[in-house]
Amino acid sequence: MAEILRCNAASGAYDITIGKGVWEKFASFPGRKLLVRDGNVPNPGIEADGEIVLTPGEQYKTFAAVESICRRAAQLHLTRKDLFIALGGGVTGDLTGFASAIYMRGVRFIQIPTTLLAMVDASVGGKTAADLPEGKNLIGAFHQPEAVLIDPGFLKTLSFTDLTGGMAEVVKTAVILDRQLFDRLEAAGESSVLAPDFDSFYVELIKRCCQLKAQVVESDEKENGLRAILNYGHTFGHAVEQKSLFSIPHGAAVAIGMNAAGILAAELGMWSSSEAERQLELLKKLRLPVTVPAEFAPAELLEIMRSDKKNDSSGIRLVLPEKIGSAKTVSGIPEKMMLKAWELCHD
Ligand SMILES: NC(=O)c1ccc[n+]([C@@H]2O[C@H](COP(=O)([O-])OP(=O)(O)OC[C@H]3O[C@@H](n4cnc5c(N)ncnc54)[C@H](O)[C@@H]3O)[C@@H](O)[C@H]2O)c1
Ligand SMILES: [Zn+2]
Repeated sequence: MAEILRCNAASGAYDITIGKGVWEKFASFPGRKLLVRDGNVPNPGIEADGEIVLTPGEQYKTFAAVESICRRAAQLHLTRKDLFIALGGGVTGDLTGFASAIYMRGVRFIQIPTTLLAMVDASVGGKTAADLPEGKNLIGAFHQPEAVLIDPGFLKTLSFTDLTGGMAEVVKTAVILDRQLFDRLEAAGESSVLAPDFDSFYVELIKRCCQLKAQVVESDEKENGLRAILNYGHTFGHAVEQKSLFSIPHGAAVAIGMNAAGILAAELGMWSSSEAERQLELLKKLRLPVTVPAEFAPAELLEIMRSDKKNDSSGIRLVLPEKIGSAKTVSGIPEKMMLKAWELCHD
């Protein structure tokens, strides 16, 4: 039985359907269809009017890829009434969403996420993007999908790194919004990644994360306030990602970033050091990295954080936990405290 959730975003409402084989529902959407597929994901049987296969990898999340999607649509003479279908992870979803936001000033699109990260986070909420050599996600648009079809069966072929990386975003969601979800992850422990149960445990995780993400998007679609808490672990994490030249994948970097943010919050007395410790232990159980490679100097990481696009005139803006299940955005934290957090977070 498929589960159906609703995301009532201000610019458009849509269903998020979760269950075995739900990708087949693509056929019920009107219009001619362009399938945009990640090169590592075989087509399960989506019959479209045209297809474009993307070269996998964050380094190909470029405006050139967006242009190639739009050109394929133009070659097929697709119109504003037609539909793009994204089949892949967060990279494919972000690129297809961006192309659909700008092709003929906007066409409809649906998301069929195939990574855990995309199922629990990227496919819901309408943020679309491409990277520039100057930085990640610097161009994009808010453009909500018409539907999100999540079949956890796709997870069976995912690499261990991509599975644990997706789990980092699940931990993020739990720490900022849902203490009960955190307890469940803790109780499941390492078996959740070493012997993953995609038929029930993961369905529950995906459902809960989508529900929470939809609620946040409903209350703040364009990130004027609350939505920013979804960036927990990401300001620290992006610094690690960038410093590693993206050899440390996003989810792993976010895990390190959450540990650094957790240490800082404990130093500031925002949450207890025992809560920071619980977060650390959970990340370790999920086989995620929690420390920065020794050769990454704290001062260099801080320098990267200074150019984060979420900063304002009061300096580096961070999301920090108040307790497990609740977080808030703070700015004006002395940089020497951030340096100390990085130091405490080293190998
Ligand atoms: N729009 C948003 O709100 C949002 C939120 C979070 C992250 N993101 C973006 O998402 C991206 C990260 O997403 P991701 O982790 O899914 O990365 P990804 O799309 O690069 O996928 C990771 C890897 O898994 C492969 N893959 C995909 N599905 C597979 C499957 N079923 N079996 C085997 N391999 C498969 C891909 O080819 C790739 O090598 C980043 O670019 C990030 O900025 C966007
Ligand atoms: Zn993320």
